[in-house]
This record gives sequence, structure tokens and C-alpha cells, in this order.
Amino acid sequence: MNPPLPPGVEKVLFTEEQIRRRIAEVAAEVTEKYRGRNLKLIAVLKGSIFFLAALAREIEIPVKIDFLAISSFSSRGASGAVRIAKDLDESIDGEDVLLVEDIVDTGLTARYLLQTLAGRGPNSLSICTLLDRTSRRLVQVPVDFRCFEIPDRFVVGFGLDHKQLYRNLPVIAVMKP
Ligand code: IMP
Repeated sequence: MNPPLPPGVEKVLFTEEQIRRRIAEVAAEVTEKYRGRNLKLIAVLKGSIFFLAALAREIEIPVKIDFLAISSFSSRGASGAVRIAKDLDESIDGEDVLLVEDIVDTGLTARYLLQTLAGRGPNSLSICTLLDRTSRRLVQVPVDFRCFEIPDRFVVGFGLDHKQLYRNLPVIAVMKP
């Protein structure tokens, strides 16, 4: 039996089992692409940490992990004004970097991060996102790995929040309008 959803949450979009299976598939793709290379996973705080932890455990090559935090000046990043609030601990010079995102929505955050990180001399730079909402894209960004495409509804759970709540839901769920 699944626990009841909190008030405000409408329905489950992806169950724990669906998420687990899909992450394992994507992790296998990542393993194949980066075998024999120096992979560093960079997660964007805070939303990506659940996905990062689940993905990293399924990747079958050694990986390094680092974090950065950003602040954006609108609730869904729509203004595009993004800045780094906590930078990486270590250099990415010469490394194969995989940026791990919770969701690519308008694409503005991902574009900013790609541009910023590209200037630091990585050997390669790609994006792996848990969720992709291409219907709201304002700028094109190359999404190399993604687990799920989602409809134009606000979602929570598995790291994604609404006013900092619901990140710990084990499922991905749609908020009531
Ligand atoms: P973008 O810059 O528009 O692509 O937005 C990316 C950021 O907006 C994500 O990293 C999330 O923090 C936030 N975001 C966008 N859509 C949702 C959602 O449906 N639920 C929770 N956070 C979201």
C-alpha cells in the first residue's frame, strides 16, 4: 500500500518502481558512454540530490561528485536571471562532466550552467536530467540523458519542491492547480 498523498498533491505521475527502473536504464547508458574516462557528476542543489544519489549508485564506473547551488530570481526560473550561490569545491579542468538536473523546464538554468562550466576547461560537458518539460522551453539546450518527459503541470517529489516542501516524497506527483 502506498502512503496517502499530502493535501495539495493531486496524483502520482511516476511510482517509486517506475523511477527506480528508469534511472537504472539511464545509468546503464551513462556507464557505457563514460567507460574508461574520468566522470564527474555535478548536482545542482537542492532538487537534484535524490536523483544524483539514485543515479550514482547504478553507474558501474568510478565517479567523482561535486555540488553547486544557484539562485534564480523567479519561482520557475522564468526571468532567466540565475547566479551561482555555492560554487564547486574542485576544478573541472580536463574532466568529463555530467551535470545532473532535477528538471529542465525553460532551459534557462541549464543554459547558464553549461555556459559557466564550459568556461572552466572540462574535457566534455553533458546534461542528465530526471525530468524534461520540453513544452515550456524558451532556449534550446542539449539534453544528453533524460529519464522522463513530463506534461505542463507543476510536479513535486523525488527532490522537487513546492515552497521547499515535498522533496522527500518517494514518487513524482502532480500538484493540484
Ligand atoms: P528552468 O531554468 O526553467 O529550466 O528551471 C529549472 C528549475 O526550475 C528547476 O531546477 C527547478 O528548481 C524549478 N522547477 C521548474 N519546474 C518545476 C516543477 O514542476 N516543480 C518543481 N520545481 C520546478
